[in-house]
Amino acid sequence: MTTQKGLKLVERDDDGVDTAFRADVLDGLSQPQKAIPARWLYDDAGSQLFEDITQLPEYYPTRAETEILQTRSGEFAELIGEGRAVVEFGSGSSVKTPLLLSAIAPSAYVPLDISGDFLRAAAADLAEKFPGLPVYPVEADFMREVELPTAVADQPKLGFFPGSTIGNMVARTAVDLLRNMRETLGVGAQLLIGMDLIKDEEVLVAAYDDAAGVTAEFNYNLVRRINRELNGDIPLDTLSHEARWNDDNARIEMHLVAGGDIAFSVDGQDFTMRTGETIHTENSHKFNRRTANMLLLAGGWEPQARWLDKGGQFSLLLAEAKPPRSAP
Ligand code: AVJ
Repeated sequence: MTTQKGLKLVERDDDGVDTAFRADVLDGLSQPQKAIPARWLYDDAGSQLFEDITQLPEYYPTRAETEILQTRSGEFAELIGEGRAVVEFGSGSSVKTPLLLSAIAPSAYVPLDISGDFLRAAAADLAEKFPGLPVYPVEADFMREVELPTAVADQPKLGFFPGSTIGNMVARTAVDLLRNMRETLGVGAQLLIGMDLIKDEEVLVAAYDDAAGVTAEFNYNLVRRINRELNGDIPLDTLSHEARWNDDNARIEMHLVAGGDIAFSVDGQDFTMRTGETIHTENSHKFNRRTANMLLLAGGWEPQARWLDKGGQFSLLLAEAKPPRSAP
C-alpha cells in the first residue's frame, strides 16, 4: 500500500480554533434566522454519528445508493473505464467506495476530507482493502480550491461525490462547488454523484427524525462542539431537534428549536433566542431528473447516465466535463 501523510489545509488560530468555524458560527448566530452551515456538523464525533444514521431503518439513502453501486458495476466499467484517479469529495466509509473501485480498476484513490482523523482511518482502511492501489489522503475543505497530489496530475480523473451531500448546499453554492470540481478535475473528467429524490413528506421527515433519536444527537453534537471549541454556554437542554419539509425549496431542514427564552454567549459574544425561535443547522435538498440535470449543467457537467435503486428512492448520476463550446 502507498499512503501519503495528508496535507494540512485547515486554518487554525493560536488557540487551535478553526477560524472558519468561528466566523461561520458567530455570523450565523447574528442573523435574524439563526443558521450555521451544515458542514460543521462533521467533527469526528459528528462523522461517527452520521455513520450511525446510515444504519437506521428510517434512513434509506445509504442503502439505496449502495444497492445501485452493487448492481451496476458492469455499466460503470463500460462508461467510466480503467485507469482513472478517483477523487472522493468527503472521504467515504468503508462500504460504498470499495464497490466503485472494484468496478473500475482505478489508477489511484484520493480521498478529501475536512475531518483529519476520520480521513486517515478511511484511507488506511481502503489501502488495506486494495493492496497496490496508491492512496493519497488530503485533509482539505473541498468547498475551497483543492490542490491534488502531483502524483495524479497527469491521470484522467473521476470525481466521486456520493450520499447526496450536494443536497446540503443551496443552489448557488452547489453550482460553485460543481464548477470548482470541474476546475480541480479538468476537462475530460467524469463525475459520479448521488442525489436523493423528492418523495412523500412522511418518508423524508422520518429519515431525518428517527425514532431512536440518533439524528437528534447528530444535531445536538453541533451545539456541544460550539460550546467546547468556541467557549460557548448554549443551554442544550432547552433546545430540541426538528426536521421539517420545505416544499417550495424541495428540501428537508434540520432546526434546533428553543423551548424557552434563552440567553447565551459564544466566544465572548452574547445572543438571545425567544421560545420557538430556531437555529437552522442543515438543508438536505431533494431532486428529480430535471432539477438534477439542470444543477449539473449549471456547474459545467453534462449528464451522461442516471441510475435509481429498485425502490426508486435515490439517484446516482454520471456526468462529464466536456471542452467548452459555443452556444446554442
Ligand atoms: C450525507 C449530508 C447528505 O443530508 O441526508 C443525515 C446528512 N443529516 N441526516 C443528508 C444527514 C441528517 C446527509 N448527507
